Amino acid sequence: MGSISAEQPVAPPPSATTFNIASIPADGIGPEVISAGIKVLNTLSQAFSSHFTFNFTHFDWSSDTYLKTGRYIPEGGLDELRKFHAILFGAVGDLRVPDHISLWGLRLAICQPFQQYANVRPTRVLRGVMSPLASCQGSLENAKKLDWVIIRENSEGEYAGQGGRSHLGQLWEVGTEVSVFSRHGCERLLRFAYETAQSRPRKKLTFVTKSNAQRNGMVLWDEVNAIVAKDYPDVETDKMLVDAMTCRMTLQPESIDTVVATNLHADILSDLAAALAGSIGIAPTSNLDPTRKNPSMFEPIHGSAWDIAGKGVANPVGTFWTCAELVRWLGQGEAADLLMDALETVLEQGVKTRDLGGQAGTEEVTSKVCEEILRLGKERAFFVKGKE
Ligand code: IPM
Ligand code: MG
Repeated sequence: MGSISAEQPVAPPPSATTFNIASIPADGIGPEVISAGIKVLNTLSQAFSSHFTFNFTHFDWSSDTYLKTGRYIPEGGLDELRKFHAILFGAVGDLRVPDHISLWGLRLAICQPFQQYANVRPTRVLRGVMSPLASCQGSLENAKKLDWVIIRENSEGEYAGQGGRSHLGQLWEVGTEVSVFSRHGCERLLRFAYETAQSRPRKKLTFVTKSNAQRNGMVLWDEVNAIVAKDYPDVETDKMLVDAMTCRMTLQPESIDTVVATNLHADILSDLAAALAGSIGIAPTSNLDPTRKNPSMFEPIHGSAWDIAGKGVANPVGTFWTCAELVRWLGQGEAADLLMDALETVLEQGVKTRDLGGQAGTEEVTSKVCEEILRLGKERAFFVKGKE
C-alpha cells in the first residue's frame, strides 16, 4: 500500500484487465447485499482509474426459480458459469423449500463439481466493531488480538452426501449420514491450510480433530496431517479436539492464528468465530478451487435472513469483506486492502446497521463506503489526473 507517490500518478496499463464476474444474488437479503457489493466493486475500479474493471452477468438462480421451473440451475448452467473469473453469491434458503433441497440444488451444486475444496473464513474484530469478548473477559486487548483464518474442508467429510433412508415410514425407519474422508481430499486441503499459515506473519496452524471418538475417518485425517506437516517445518502447529477448541477460541483468542478443520467442525467453529468478532453480519467466505481450473465462489456467511429482507436494513459489511476477498483472489491485493480500510473507517465513524448497534440502513453504509473508497483512492494516488 501507498508505494505510489501523490506527485506521480500511475498511468492506466495499456490494456486494463476486465474481470468477468457471475452474480447469483438468490434468496432473501441476497439481492440487496449483492447489489451493494457490486456498487462497491465498481467504485473500487473507479478509485484505481479503471486499472481493472468488472463486467457482471446476473443469474436468476434462486428458490423462486426452483419453485417455477423445478430447478435451481438450468440445463447447461454450470458450463455457462465455468467461463467466469469468479462468482459472487448472495444467499440461498427459503421457507417454501426444505433447506437440504435448496443447499444441494444451488450452493453445493456449484461447490462440488467446481472442486471448490477450500473454504476460507477470515475472522477479525474490525475497527469500529465491538467483540462480545471485550465485555465477558473484561479485556478489550484480547478481543483486539482476534485475527484468525479458518480453513474449512469443503468437498467431503460430513457433507459428502453419502447415506440413505430405509424402512420408510416404519417405526424402525433409519437414516444414515456417512462422513467421507479420503487421503487425497485430506491432503489437498491440509496443504492449502499449511500454505495459508505460512503466508501469515505468525506461521501458526491449529489442526482440529475429533479422533478420540471418531476412530476411522478422523484418524486418517490425523495421519495425513502428520505427513503433510513434515513439508512445512517453518509452520508451528498444534492439535485440538473440536470441543476443546470452542473453549480456547473464547478464552484464549490471542493464541490462535490459522485453523484447519473438517467441513462440519469448521462450519460450527466459524459461526462461533463470527459471533466473537462482533456479528455474523460481517463474516465473509471464499469457496476456492486452489488449482484455479474452475472459478471460485465468494459469499457472505449470513444467509438469506428473510425476516429483514426488503426492508433496507441488511448489513452489507459481510458482502463488502467478501468482495475484498474476491479482488485479492484476482490478484488485486492493494485494492482489497483499500476496500477493507474504507470499510473499517466507515464503521469507526459509527455508520453501521442495527445488528452492530448503529442506526444506518444498507444504502447509507454502502454510499459512505463508496465515498471513502474514492477518498482513499485519491489520497493514495490511484486516480490518474484528469480521470476523476
Ligand atoms: C455455512 C452455512 C451452510 C453450511 C448452510 C447454509 C447449509 O451454515 O456456509 O456455514 O452449513 O455450509
Ligand atoms: Mg455455517
